[in-house]
Amino acid sequence: MDFDLFIDRKPTESLKWNYYPDDVLPLWVADTDFRCPAAVIEALHKRVDHGIFGYGLTPEGLDKVVIDRFDRLYTWKVSPDQISYIPGVVTGFTIVLRALCEKGDAVIFQTPAYPPFIGSPKASGLIGIQNPMYLDEEGIYRIDFDLFERQVIDNKVKVYVLCNPQNPTGRVFSKEELLKLADICLRHHVIICSDEIHCDILYDGKKHTPIAALDPEISKNTATFMAPSKTYNIAGMHASVAIIQDEGLHATVKDFMQYLISSPGVLAFVAAKAAYEHGDEWLQEQIAYLQANRDLIGNAIDDGLLPGIRWSKPEGTFLAWLDCRELGIKGVLQTFFVENAKVSMNDGCTFGEAGEGFLRLNFGCTQAVLKQGLQKMAEAIQKI
Ligand SMILES: Cc1ncc(COP(=O)(O)O)c(C=O)c1O
Repeated sequence: MDFDLFIDRKPTESLKWNYYPDDVLPLWVADTDFRCPAAVIEALHKRVDHGIFGYGLTPEGLDKVVIDRFDRLYTWKVSPDQISYIPGVVTGFTIVLRALCEKGDAVIFQTPAYPPFIGSPKASGLIGIQNPMYLDEEGIYRIDFDLFERQVIDNKVKVYVLCNPQNPTGRVFSKEELLKLADICLRHHVIICSDEIHCDILYDGKKHTPIAALDPEISKNTATFMAPSKTYNIAGMHASVAIIQDEGLHATVKDFMQYLISSPGVLAFVAAKAAYEHGDEWLQEQIAYLQANRDLIGNAIDDGLLPGIRWSKPEGTFLAWLDCRELGIKGVLQTFFVENAKVSMNDGCTFGEAGEGFLRLNFGCTQAVLKQGLQKMAEAIQKI
């Protein structure tokens, strides 16, 4: 696959490419600009050519593909009755929150946080507790476990929404970190809702650990969400996977979902199955390409092309969390770069209080686009 190939997405009503005026380079919403694996396109063609799109069943063999994948990648044993297919991960964690919480209950998550982590509890009448991460002396984002536990106790937290790999910081939490979090949750009867949508895009040989795979006791206390959407660039298809291994918890969530959300559409199922079944080689190539993109940003920062911008090198995801506080820009950072650099990124303040003064840059694009974006940012910074 030629990841350098630029494909014009504007004729496809792309959110990323059509939201801002034509002269703005979009490095914001988290999808990539790459064509998905050929096997996905072929499978979709075949299904489309059939021409009838009535109600469907879960494709035969999909459970096996998913289960084998978990076993192969994580030595995680999952059975078909522990899996539900849902249209999206945000929908999934919102359903869990609503199924398990009463209005006014507290939900905790690390910040900076993917904006729906803040919005979903709020929209459900719940209290969102922000657990800010901190940068250690090596510039790595860490969790303050003591603070986390105090916040859990003080607010009688019901559900912890974990994001691993973490959006926007790109942290990939270690087994030790996950065990500490799970231990706190188990001791204080907090259900873990684990958003692992970014689990397939990790760098420098890092390996993902699903928190539920650590221990049967943890898995009984956890709802996990994964998806082929970020991994294979099929987010607009809407197919995701929920894994809930405790029978009672799964039944509660399923009862709540019934009549509220439908399963993925017939084409979404086809795309998801083909991606998981045949997308491995493509994925490895994509990871190498994205890692080079990540390092391009790192070099630009290290070489002084972006004076006043720092970052914490992401261990996974195609997102760079840029600390722009030293730029001293007054007003909304995102607007500054849209107006002066013609580059759109996500403003840090939408990621919670901890995001003030930061921008999230999506480097899931061709290297040519990324270089152009960095150059335009550099020119805008020079004029401050
Ligand atoms: C951490 C995280 N969760 C969920 C989503 C969205 O998932 P979905 O489109 O399946 O709702 C994103 C997309 O950016 C994300 O970064």
